[in-house]
Amino acid sequence: MKKEKIVLAYSGGLDTSCCLKWLQDKGFDVICFSAGLGSEFSPKELKEKAKKAGIAKIYIKDLCKEFSRDYILPALRAGAIYQDKYVLSTALGRPLIAKYLIEIAKLERAKYIAHGCSSKGNDQIRLELAAKSLAPDIKIIAPLRVWELKSREDELEYAKRNNIAVGSTKKKIYSIDKNIWGVSIEAGILEDLKNSPPEDAFILTKPLEKASGRKENIEIELKEGKPVKLNKKSLSLTGIIEKLNFIGGRHAIGRTDLVEDRATGIKSREVYEAPAAWILHKAFKEIEELVFSKEMRDFKEIVARRYADLAYRGFWFSPLKESLDAFLEKQVRLVSGKVILQLYKGNIVTLSRSSQYSLYKESLATYGKKDEFCRDWAEGYINILGMSIKR
Ligand code: ARG
Repeated sequence: MKKEKIVLAYSGGLDTSCCLKWLQDKGFDVICFSAGLGSEFSPKELKEKAKKAGIAKIYIKDLCKEFSRDYILPALRAGAIYQDKYVLSTALGRPLIAKYLIEIAKLERAKYIAHGCSSKGNDQIRLELAAKSLAPDIKIIAPLRVWELKSREDELEYAKRNNIAVGSTKKKIYSIDKNIWGVSIEAGILEDLKNSPPEDAFILTKPLEKASGRKENIEIELKEGKPVKLNKKSLSLTGIIEKLNFIGGRHAIGRTDLVEDRATGIKSREVYEAPAAWILHKAFKEIEELVFSKEMRDFKEIVARRYADLAYRGFWFSPLKESLDAFLEKQVRLVSGKVILQLYKGNIVTLSRSSQYSLYKESLATYGKKDEFCRDWAEGYINILGMSIKR
C-alpha cells in the first residue's frame, strides 16, 4: 500500500527530530520543511540531519525577506508588543511557516501536515489556526499531543534509543527559538521563578557589565512607516534588523523577562532578547509622537494592543487582523522622519527627531518672545469645559 504523505515543520531541534522518527514509525512518508527565518541551524546542517533520519525530501527556504516584509513590518507598524515585554518574534514566524506547510502539501498532494509544538503552548494554536484559515480541509497531526513521551527527559531518552542526534548541551538545558526578530528562551532552570536568567542563556546580547563603554549614536530614517536608512545608508529591512541586532547586542539592549499569559491559560516564564526590535519600536514611537494627533495616538494604542493579542493568540490570518492592517496602511503614511538614538549600557535614549509631517510648532510651544499662541482663547475654553462639573 502506498504510504500517506505528510509535511512536517522541521527545525532540527529535539521535538521535531523525535516527531520525524515517530511519524515514520506510524507509516507516513515524511516530507520535511524548514523555514529559514534566521535560526541557529544552517541549511547544510538541516539537510544532513534529515538525511541521517532517512528523509527523502526536505524543503529548506530562506524566508527572511518575506518574514520582514509581511510579518515583522506590519507588527512593527502596529506597535505590537505583548504584555509590554514581548515583541512577538516567535509568534510572528508561525503563520508564515503554516503558509509554506500548506503550499508544500498542495504541491506534494499531501493530505496531512504535522508540527512539533507542545500541547500546552501557543505555537500549536498559531500554526493550526493559520493552516485552517488557508486550507480548511487539511489534516493536522501533532505528535506531542498524542505520543507516549511525557517530558523532555522522555524525548531525550527516545532520541538516544533511536540514534537521533540532538543539538548542543545548551539546547538540552533551554528551549530556544531564534529568528531575526528575536530570541525566546525558556525551560530548564528558568522554570523556577526564583532563578534569574544565567548568562549562558543569551545569544544576541551582552550582559550590562560587559556592554560597550562607549556611547553610540545611530540615525534611523523611516519613510511612510518603513525603516529605509540606518546611519544615512539605504538598506533592506532585513539588513537594518540584522545590523541593529548586532549593534544593540553589544550595548546590552533588548533583554526582557516575562511571566506571560499563554493562550492556553497557563502562566509561563520566558526570557527574550530582541535588540533590533526594541530600537525600531522606539524609533517609530518617536516619530508617531510628532505626527499623530492625540486622538490618533490614543486610538493607535488600542490597535497596538489588539494587534499584539491577535498575533499572540494565532489569529494572524483573520478578518479582524486584516481590517486593522487596512487602518494601519492609511495611518503609516504619516510616519516619515529621522530619529537619532543613543545606545549606552542597555538604554536607548532619544537625542533628536524630525518629520515633514510634524504637528509640533515651536511658535506655539515656546515661552519665549516668539510666542504666537492666542492667550485670550484659554479663559473661554476653560469656562465651557467647567460647565459640566460646576453645580
Ligand atoms: N512564549 C513565546 C510565544 O508563545 C515563545 C514560545 C517558544 N519559546 C521557546 N523558547 N521555544 O510566542
